[in-house]
Amino acid sequence: VAERCGFWLLEDDPYGELRYRGAPLPSLGSLAAERTLSLSTLSKVAAPGLRIGWVRTPPALRSSLVVAKQAADLHSSTIDQAAAARWLATVDLDAHIAGLRAEYGARRDALLTGLAAALPPGSVHNRPAGGMFVWARLPDGWDAEALLERALARDVAFVPGFPFFAGPPDRATLRLSFTAHAPDEIAEGLARLAGAWH
Ligand SMILES: Cc1ncc(COP(=O)(O)O)c(C=O)c1O
Repeated sequence: VAERCGFWLLEDDPYGELRYRGAPLPSLGSLAAERTLSLSTLSKVAAPGLRIGWVRTPPALRSSLVVAKQAADLHSSTIDQAAAARWLATVDLDAHIAGLRAEYGARRDALLTGLAAALPPGSVHNRPAGGMFVWARLPDGWDAEALLERALARDVAFVPGFPFFAGPPDRATLRLSFTAHAPDEIAEGLARLAGAWH
């Protein structure tokens, strides 16, 4: 089918609902439904370990994808799917996501407020409008994995950025999550991070 139609777009969008400022962005699937396979998951809005996702496909691809999924893992856990279906039937999803946005937005702000002071001078970071992470880059010559070792000794962690690179990795980059902890805990984590390189 793909050969006849030319190309497909694969949209992997687990974070689109978690937007803290600005108007919602249109999904690729809404712009080119006949060309797009849209993937998402309940992991980011229901429970991180749930690992129940879905794919919205053009009709011509659907049966092939079902076979491919069965070949990959037979099927997703029936019990987990039943729990997810039960949750979806009872929750007010829009209100639930609005609550996540408010809480995660405050946590994002807490991280952004203290981050510059917690990283070595000359570091830079983004100010994401959504999602769960802030990306930062240490000054030239710094290695985020080496900093992580010193941070772990103080019981605070981040994810070095280099494994995420498709091309030559930049070892000065790091990814910081802001969703798992309340603002006061984030402030404490940043104080520990600052102590790791001072
Ligand atoms: C970009 C991206 N896609 C897909 C997933 C998969 O989510 P899950 O396996 O939890 O359903 C994740 C989870 O971290 C992700 O970050």
